[in-house]
Amino acid sequence: MSDVTDFSVGAAGDAAEQIRYLDAVAQLGAQAKDTTFAMQGIVPNSRVLDCGCGVGDDVRAIAARVGADGMVVGLDANEALIAAAIARGVPPNARFITASAESLTFPDASFDAVRAERLLQHLADPLAAVKEMHRVLAPGGSLLAIDQDWQSIVVAGGDRATTRTIVDAFADSLADGWAGRRHREHFVGAGFAQIDSRPFVTSLSFAHAYAFVLESALAAAIQSGRLDRAEADAWVRGLLAADARGTFFYGVTVFLTVAVR
Ligand SMILES: C[S@@+](CC[C@H](N)C(=O)[O-])C[C@H]1O[C@@H](n2cnc3c(N)ncnc32)[C@H](O)[C@@H]1O
Repeated sequence: MSDVTDFSVGAAGDAAEQIRYLDAVAQLGAQAKDTTFAMQGIVPNSRVLDCGCGVGDDVRAIAARVGADGMVVGLDANEALIAAAIARGVPPNARFITASAESLTFPDASFDAVRAERLLQHLADPLAAVKEMHRVLAPGGSLLAIDQDWQSIVVAGGDRATTRTIVDAFADSLADGWAGRRHREHFVGAGFAQIDSRPFVTSLSFAHAYAFVLESALAAAIQSGRLDRAEADAWVRGLLAADARGTFFYGVTVFLTVAVR
């Protein structure tokens, strides 16, 4: 199967599978969404850009929040995801465009808030994108980025050496598997001064962890030649046994960073 966690441009992903993945992950994080809108001061009349908007659920939620005198643009490099976003509905104060976050076509100071949720980890040049986001923000406007730091995956239940191999392979397989810890580097590099970068841990059940992360991580380890199929199967058996005993754990550190221009 294709790797559903690989959203980098040019990855031969199956769009329908990617959309199912985005919907499932969105359900897990739905409650925190409004808090993140409030954290970056998205209010009625705000002009908002959502970079790497995927299927656009956040864009529709923001459109309702900013009201008729505000506006929101959802931007994504994947045409198939933008088509899915449009098919789900475009509010009158919203629009969707296919474009790259590294070279935005908007004039300077066009937005009051820019969002990049789980985008930077997929970019070959995240600093270029953050510089563009800084450029299109009006003075006083805010940038919010959310990224896992995939090197920080914690798994309890599998052999220690194999777990390290799999975590390394997965972190190395993404454009920037260390995206979370590098938020500050990119924000400072782009010229932001007041930066609030908060790490928190999200944990998942075995079923969710396997479907959303561990299956892709195993594939990365096998494809990179660090693990063979028999070692991978033995590791999964260990996790299943731990899950049956109630001792399985999966967690990863996520960084949520907000800065004002
Ligand atoms: C993990 S998804 C997150 C989608 C959405 N932000 C969310 O939280 O549900 C990453 C998104 O970034 C998009 N993407 C990847 N590279 C991009 C680029 N260079 N410019 C704009 N979007 C990009 C992908 O197509 C995908 O929709």
